[in-house]
Amino acid sequence: MENKVVLVTGGSRGIGRSICETLAERGCTVIFTYLSNEEKAQALAAEIREKGQKAFAYYCDMSDLKSVVAFSAKIRKEYGNFDALVNNAGILGDGKPFLMSADDHWWNVMKTNIGSVTNTCRAVVPQMIAQKKGRIVNITSVSGQKGNPGQSAYSASKSAIVTFSKALAKEVGRFGVVVNCVSPGLIETDMTKNISNEYVSARSQFSALTRKGEVQEVASLVSYLICDAPEYIVAQELTIDGGLV
Ligand SMILES: NC(=O)c1ccc[n+]([C@@H]2O[C@H](COP(=O)([O-])OP(=O)(O)OC[C@H]3O[C@@H](n4cnc5c(N)ncnc54)[C@H](OP(=O)(O)O)[C@@H]3O)[C@@H](O)[C@H]2O)c1
Repeated sequence: MENKVVLVTGGSRGIGRSICETLAERGCTVIFTYLSNEEKAQALAAEIREKGQKAFAYYCDMSDLKSVVAFSAKIRKEYGNFDALVNNAGILGDGKPFLMSADDHWWNVMKTNIGSVTNTCRAVVPQMIAQKKGRIVNITSVSGQKGNPGQSAYSASKSAIVTFSKALAKEVGRFGVVVNCVSPGLIETDMTKNISNEYVSARSQFSALTRKGEVQEVASLVSYLICDAPEYIVAQELTIDGGLV
């Protein structure tokens, strides 16, 4: 992956941050986006570059198609074509039951989570088809498999990402573009810090490993799919959840 250009959406914190660090260690030129945390994002990019690796942070609201198309055109001019794409940006929402959640908030979660994925795919996949190669990993969630209370929009958006990814994989696989999903369980990040301890222990006590996952564990699976995995692993949702029941 030496000098391969990889776009990671939402790289300023949490799982995305660890994905950026891991791919930069593997020799990729990592371009990552952020929405609100400019300071954190630029500090991470500088930290990675201080190690002699390549990472560059850019503001882009991935839920807005026009911005994503303009952003990706600018990046391609500066760094060359994308070799891989990791769609990681996402939000959990307000945690309220469906009937108590405002309709515009509900749709904003949908737009951010599934819209970010379709927007980058619209912007980047034609270029990957033209070069007859590309790897895409979309980050989903076990919430999209099981449907979690208080997460109706989040669960719906994540299962939409899985079926979208499988359909896209079947459309573009013959052109050398390999699409997969990674579906984490409960991972220690800002996103899960406000989830009650009772909920976390209730969910994890019967799991195989009885603990939350770490960001590096997800990043190492993503890095495998981007850098090492045979292309015959395609159109899959790979779950990494410590054996949740
Ligand atoms: N943590 C878990 O337990 C867990 C479990 C399953 C799946 N996931 C999924 O894994 C991914 C990362 O989660 P995380 O826990 O690392 O979340 P996090 O700590 O809350 O970080 C979210 C990242 O997404 C960025 N982001 C959000 N909306 C964006 C937008 N519209 N445009 C660009 N960037 C945007 C944020 O940027 P700013 O910092 O600039 O706001 C941040 O970098 C998400 O897709 C999440 O659904 C997480």
